[in-house]
Amino acid sequence: MRGIILAGGSGSRLSPVTRAVSKQLLPVYDKPMVYYPLSVLMQAGIRDILIISNPHHLEAYRRLLGTGADLGLRLEYAAQPEPRGLAEALLIGAEFIGDEQVALILGDNVLHRPGLGALLHEERGRLVGCTLFGCTVPDPHRFGVAELDASGRILSLEEKPDNPRSNLVVVGLYLYDNEAVARAAELKPSDRGELEITDLNRTFVESGNARLVPLGSEAIWFDTGTHDSLLQASVFVRAQERLGRPVGRLEDIARDMGFLADRRVRAAG
Ligand code: G1P
Repeated sequence: MRGIILAGGSGSRLSPVTRAVSKQLLPVYDKPMVYYPLSVLMQAGIRDILIISNPHHLEAYRRLLGTGADLGLRLEYAAQPEPRGLAEALLIGAEFIGDEQVALILGDNVLHRPGLGALLHEERGRLVGCTLFGCTVPDPHRFGVAELDASGRILSLEEKPDNPRSNLVVVGLYLYDNEAVARAAELKPSDRGELEITDLNRTFVESGNARLVPLGSEAIWFDTGTHDSLLQASVFVRAQERLGRPVGRLEDIARDMGFLADRRVRAAG
């Protein structure tokens, strides 16, 4: 499975902080924001990862993460010239994805849950169509909202609805089989001129192969696109670090996942 981190957008809600700096490079406590979504892909065992950002900021990501070899990863970079929507990441990444499955994660999502790696691994194994992950929040109108039936099947997905049908929102981590690339190419831009990820996911709901996995009460999730959520995420990471439960430490995850041992073997060979 290939991974894509979309670190685009203008970060307008964090202006003026983001006027000169890419949002996803801002600190969440002691690490750049992009470390956290990268850590999620790594926990899922994904090592081939494309980082997409706007052309002005791409070089900064390269400087930060390089080839990824130090972490046993293979990182590539691509530009999204205009913020034309999350689903465009699959088109920009089409060649990189090739005929593989893909995990798309948003560069401003901080997601933490005990056993997350094992859960993602299991979901990779059973992926058909698309798999979404859900969290219950008090302010669902800010996000993509899912409505499930009693058996957990998705009845509807709505992007930032005025009257949400539930408190269950779709977090910014999406697993897709290869068909997603062709489906993204068929999407029409929304009223705000973007290829909406919710429109893409809805096509999978309509064809009966979308699944939503509720992450449960143990999950902590922040979309760090506002000053308040950015601060809350920093406070959370600091609290975890003080409890000896680090979050987003890439070197530790690379070691635990066996990426570094493998790297030494490859280097020696
Ligand atoms: C995007 C998606 C939304 C999703 C959210 C998760 O919204 O459009 O469906 O719930 O990410 O972070 P954005 O934060 O880009 O407005």
